[in-house]
Amino acid sequence: MPKVTFIYDGQTKEVEAKEDQTLLEAAIEAGVPMEHACGGNGFCTTCRCKVKKGSENLSARNDREENMGVSEEPDRLGCQAEVQGEVEVELAEE
Ligand code: FES
Repeated sequence: MPKVTFIYDGQTKEVEAKEDQTLLEAAIEAGVPMEHACGGNGFCTTCRCKVKKGSENLSARNDREENMGVSEEPDRLGCQAEVQGEVEVELAEE
């Protein structure tokens, strides 16, 4: 079972994710406050986060991320990156 550790607001929350669920979907299901102004469509970057561990356990960076300028490690768009294993991500500071 894929697992995501979210770091935000000085706390850490570990949640189980479904295979190929996006980071954003896993966050919403777990009550983690990942922003998603565009509704998870890859057009706003409010779901941007930093991958601290396990970037190899996320789906490959896609065109929407590249188009929004989220093109370098460790940044990913939470609504585009799909979880395939163990990952640790830090939410962007407000
Ligand atoms: S929710 Fe808008 S880019 Fe991810």
